[in-house]
Amino acid sequence: MRRFSADYLDHTREGMWEDGREALADLAPSSRRRILDVGCGTGAFTRVLAEEAGSGGTVLGVDADTDLLRVARDRTHGSAEGKAEDAEGDHTNERPDRATRQFLAGDATRLPVPNGAVDLVACQALLSNLPNPAEAVREFAHVSTDLVAAVEPNNADVEVTSTVDREADLERDAREAYLDGVGTDVALGDRIRSLFADAGLVDVRTRRYVHEKRRTPPYSETALEAAARTASGAGLADHREELRGTLSAAAYDDLRRRWREMGREIVSAMRDEEYERVERVPFEVTVGRVP
Ligand SMILES: C[S@@+](CC[C@H](N)C(=O)[O-])C[C@H]1O[C@@H](n2cnc3c(N)ncnc32)[C@H](O)[C@@H]1O
Repeated sequence: MRRFSADYLDHTREGMWEDGREALADLAPSSRRRILDVGCGTGAFTRVLAEEAGSGGTVLGVDADTDLLRVARDRTHGSAEGKAEDAEGDHTNERPDRATRQFLAGDATRLPVPNGAVDLVACQALLSNLPNPAEAVREFAHVSTDLVAAVEPNNADVEVTSTVDREADLERDAREAYLDGVGTDVALGDRIRSLFADAGLVDVRTRRYVHEKRRTPPYSETALEAAARTASGAGLADHREELRGTLSAAAYDDLRRRWREMGREIVSAMRDEEYERVERVPFEVTVGRVP
């Protein structure tokens, strides 16, 4: 199983769904009573679902990585990290206008709940990380009495523009090497509709959400941390295994050297408040109904 760090998920999900949630309309979240968020990671999407479901509902986050689940629980139930969310005015420890959140360890292809246990099974950025996404979608169709939804990035269509000249090109090179080495289909795109139809789901609809991340002065804490991670090479090292799937040791070291140089350039431009970057990641939101 591909593993993700909490830091990586925080950086990639920054601001997601804060600029509008129209693309989630077909999930009809406000009329759901029990929702499952499969591959919930640190619970970023679980929280969005809990906000949209409103009071009286329950959202159960399931993930195979117990380290990420611990972070998700801490953030939800108000430990040290929960307090950090609080400081940003963002933490609501089971606020009355949100659905209750719970977290459970489990595998996407053998969910730890009985068939028909919920009225929506949803996932975000999970299917593209599974060796056999069709098996998971079939399991989702068994466990839901009504809707199944997948929010999947189209990683092949990511756009980056930056005031640091080399950033867009170097990111594209790294992304292409990562996509080649990853071993699962990380740009599922239109194929999600076929996966849903093959699992027997009907009324399959798709909407698009573009997650736009803007880094402009004054920089957020997350933006500063991301730049530091680029300069130290830590961000790239998170994907070392996948990158080494296609790059030789020398090519990886060369990429890492150029990556860190770029990071130092970004950090320096940030100090002068001259750095601006925009990243657009398109997500397909696919929803189907259990007949
Ligand atoms: C890219 S992360 C997405 C996390 C979260 N949904 C979000 O959008 O921030 C993929 C998640 O799927 C989980 N995962 C991968 N394979 C899994 C499996 N077979 N069963 C359950 N979770 C799995 C990983 O541990 C990780 O948390």
